[in-house]
Amino acid sequence: MNKAIFFIFAFFVTSAFADEVDNRKALRLTAPQRHHVLTEMRELLAGTQNILSALAKDDMAAVAEYSRALGFDMKHKAENPLHEVLPKEFMQLGMSMHKDFDLIAADAESLKDPKHTLQQMSATMSKCTACHASYQITSNVTQANEVRLDEVAQRGSHVMPFNLEQTTHIFSKTDTGGVQQVIVKDKANNEQIKLIREHLSKISHEFIQGDFSNPAKIHGDTMPGLAELKKAKQGDIKIDYKELADGGQITYSASQPTLIAAIHQWFDAQLSDHARHAMPGHAGHSMHKH
Ligand code: HEC
Repeated sequence: MNKAIFFIFAFFVTSAFADEVDNRKALRLTAPQRHHVLTEMRELLAGTQNILSALAKDDMAAVAEYSRALGFDMKHKAENPLHEVLPKEFMQLGMSMHKDFDLIAADAESLKDPKHTLQQMSATMSKCTACHASYQITSNVTQANEVRLDEVAQRGSHVMPFNLEQTTHIFSKTDTGGVQQVIVKDKANNEQIKLIREHLSKISHEFIQGDFSNPAKIHGDTMPGLAELKKAKQGDIKIDYKELADGGQITYSASQPTLIAAIHQWFDAQLSDHARHAMPGHAGHSMHKH
């Protein structure tokens, strides 16, 4: 190829890339968290479509019903598990949008004025576009090494008897260590509940004896925190297994700061390696409860 033409071509390619850089603020979420937010988003789009379709038929009762479904009730169930993960401004924008939908519902019932509703919809949907212009979601699955995640899943399937797709791992750090929960996605999945309980009960006994070889088989011998955990004297880390209605949990607690830090590092390592099937919990209020 002629050199001049090549340079011109290269120039166009790089300038096209420069324009395509996504400058929106990145929300770093785990795969399940991202899935959770995007599912709500698709519900919002479907809901606004339903409202517009009811409006076109002058069916104000249906407008009110569809709109209320996108109101505060939705926010309640949709964003609660994420309220400590998402930035405050993001939550406020979302909250103000959900409030709008409650007002749209109330006005549709009392005023029954389609034109008024349309104006409200337009103002509310400018909050959709404002938020979309400011934020993007980056999942840690795309950041973590995909190959490593495949390897982890592969090795995990030999070590963990339960099905990673049908279960969720939740790692919640606490002031004294942490709580590891494995629960089924479908509460009626008794087969997986049984496998989870057998496995957690078995490894908790191994951990009590200072044997952490099981997770090391999946995550490698250089797992952060592992060396400290192995060095700990029996009894320095209290390990409790407990059955949950939909799975099981292991609680780790220690009083020495170095051991607490080691438990936290060890949790982080498992979280990033299980990015597709695990999520961080928040000890205390928003942790999965029974
Ligand atoms: C407070 C912020 C916020 C508000 C308000 C908001 N969204 Fe989103 N929405 C997001 C983010 C962040 C994404 C992911 C964008 C990305 O990663 O590129 C998203 C993605 C989406 C998607 C893509 C879903 C998918 O499966 O990929 C749809 C559709 C959507 N939003 C619809 C809506 C509609 C309709 C509204 C208003 C009624 C709305 N959103 C309001 C933040 C918001």
